[in-house]
Amino acid sequence: MKFKGIILLCGLVVSATIQGFAQSKIDPKDISHKMQWFGDAKLGIFIHAGIYAVDGIDESWSFHNKKISHADYMKQLKGFTMKNYNPVFWADLIKESGARYAVLTTKHHDGVAMYDTKLNDLSIVKSTPAKRDMVKPLFEELRKRDIKCGAYFSLIDWSNINYPGFLKDSSRYSVPDDYERWGRFRNFFQGQIKEINAMFKPDLWWFDGDWEHSAEEWESQKVRHLILSGNPDAIINGRLQGYGDYETPEQNFPVSRPKYNWWELCMTTSENWGYHRDDTWKTPYEVITIFVDAVSNGGNLLLDMGPKADGTIPDEQIHVLKELGAWNKKHGEAIFNTLGGLPQGHFYGPTTLSKDSTSLYLFLHGHVSGTVMLKGLVNNIKEISVVGNGTQLSHKVVGKISWSPVPGLVYIDIPENVLDNYMTVLKLKLDKPLKLYRGQGGLN
Ligand code: GLC
Repeated sequence: MKFKGIILLCGLVVSATIQGFAQSKIDPKDISHKMQWFGDAKLGIFIHAGIYAVDGIDESWSFHNKKISHADYMKQLKGFTMKNYNPVFWADLIKESGARYAVLTTKHHDGVAMYDTKLNDLSIVKSTPAKRDMVKPLFEELRKRDIKCGAYFSLIDWSNINYPGFLKDSSRYSVPDDYERWGRFRNFFQGQIKEINAMFKPDLWWFDGDWEHSAEEWESQKVRHLILSGNPDAIINGRLQGYGDYETPEQNFPVSRPKYNWWELCMTTSENWGYHRDDTWKTPYEVITIFVDAVSNGGNLLLDMGPKADGTIPDEQIHVLKELGAWNKKHGEAIFNTLGGLPQGHFYGPTTLSKDSTSLYLFLHGHVSGTVMLKGLVNNIKEISVVGNGTQLSHKVVGKISWSPVPGLVYIDIPENVLDNYMTVLKLKLDKPLKLYRGQGGLN
């Protein structure tokens, strides 16, 4: 269930979007083998391509929320040309960003398929001047670059005459009143899933909109089965009413570490999923720090881009992806194939660990020069270096008492000339796998 609400906290009014997750029915032990690449990948690029880019309005929600009539929304079909669509350029850019997977909209809530569906005419192939499938050429280019391919698929289809929901305050019918009609819609959407599974073999399925119906109504278990029977290693996101593999907090930043084995923060680079004129963009610094925060908390970032209707990518978007990519290139060893870092309280910043936990990475926000401090490290440090720069740094252990098991504090001096423009990363080579002291000092 998804709702926007107002929460009253001790006189403070906080506006919040809350994404409630259906309790997962999937045992992590059963899927850990296929989740390996996903856990190591850390960065994916989300692509919201759709006719909403023609007028630069909210994807699907603009007609649902009655900002524009459905008829006017659909007029955008005529302007969707993709005439400068260049999957080679897109795939190169995604590769350059450092991403290991990409997720493309195959159909949003507006029901417009971005591929050649045989089940109706509402596709960019049959109903727009683009007259072509977007998915296959992009997946081919991504796969050549070793990037995993994900298919976003909206379960909601507000344009379909057999789908109950339509505008925010009016629906066509309710499921209990007309099971037969719902059955027709169910055959249709499941048919499209089968098509996509067979045509493109997605490595990952990214469902959306499950909150409008129950697991029983969608037949989530059957949907999972029909995907996995043809494509057993496919990963399925958590928006399938309990039948997905990982959680997808949306535009919301965890403060304490999520308890899930696998999770992915999906986030816009601007303020919208699809292309809007005069948008406001996050800076590369903001995107990099958010990305690092997700990774240090054991998660991934799925960073969105919204291409224009002619298939070009906005310059601001290209800038962010290139800066992120350059930073990843320099600091990749501290990010990809790592584990979430230290629990809170040891270091005032994000951290990650190598898989064998003998290397600890400390991320420094902004231009921190001077001294940083680390608490509760039982290990001896063999060496400290600046990632991507190689400079070795010295450190001092302060306050270690010979008779006490409580470790001393580690102080590390950071000279100004090693600082990265965005985030500097230190690598601490430990004598053995990480061991932490988590107590209350002399009090226990
Ligand atoms: C939400 C929105 C949708 C968007 C998606 C991306 O569920 O309904 O418009 O595509 O988030 O995460």
